[in-house]
Amino acid sequence: MILFEGVSKAFGSNQVLDGFSLEIPHGQTTVILGYSGSGKSVALKHIVGLLTPDEGRVVVDGSVVHELKRDELAELRRSIGYVFQFAALFDSMTVEENIRLGLARRDLSPAEIEERIVESLRLVELDDAGRLLPAELSGGMRKRVGIARAIALRPRYILYDEPTTGLDPVTAALIDHLMIRVRQESGATGVVVTHDMRSAYSVADRIAMLYDGAIRQAGSVEEIRATRDPVVRQFIEGRPNLPSATVSAPGPGVGP
Ligand SMILES: Nc1ncnc2c1ncn2[C@@H]1O[C@H](COP(=O)(O)OP(=O)(O)O)[C@@H](O)[C@H]1O
Ligand SMILES: [Mg+2]
Repeated sequence: MILFEGVSKAFGSNQVLDGFSLEIPHGQTTVILGYSGSGKSVALKHIVGLLTPDEGRVVVDGSVVHELKRDELAELRRSIGYVFQFAALFDSMTVEENIRLGLARRDLSPAEIEERIVESLRLVELDDAGRLLPAELSGGMRKRVGIARAIALRPRYILYDEPTTGLDPVTAALIDHLMIRVRQESGATGVVVTHDMRSAYSVADRIAMLYDGAIRQAGSVEEIRATRDPVVRQFIEGRPNLPSATVSAPGPGVGP
């Protein structure tokens, strides 16, 4: 389980997280929704100790992340797959080499490493792409390589940072399908941050909305769909925040 307990984080005068608390239960997929710039990536980075809270703490499987020693943090990071927003592949390396890189420094035999590469590429339906270079891949394929690289570690947790952002709807739906399949086949607990509602509804067991630095509401997909919170409603319905005057009052020359 991952627990955020009253996490606050500022960069200079920009208070990004402000008493952020959330429980991420095991074996499910939790989606964290939020506007661009609301702090979703900042929240994810706290889970793997890439950022340290100013106040509060993040607890992963009973350990307080920012209190871990170097080698303990390295161990924690080995149990967490991180799918970065911009795939973050090494351009001069093939797909296989990119995946292999993540498997180095583990106690795996060469045969086990090759087996994991094949298996993870199969799971994202890129069986034949191992020898390609990132430049030869579409955006959707790069995302899938990012997912393959994360699952090759056989992690207990997989963190997905905006996995469908910037993809066409069909490719986005394929990524959703792969995230569901990864959960079913690997059992890994998923954390997905996104502003894509269609994706959220298709992959989530639970949804939490980050707003103003804290969790505005968290609940089952049904609970979020039925929310009466105006802030959450506006977000999930994708309504612009127009002043009512510009909506109802006719402009000059428009009236009868
Ligand atoms: N390392 C950093 N240094 C300074 N500001 C940062 C840093 N990381 C994120 N921020 C700021 O924190 C806010 C939230 O960023 P982010 O978590 O990336 O948003 P998003 O919800 O789109 O993922 C933004 O205003 C961003 O500029
Ligand atoms: Mg982000």
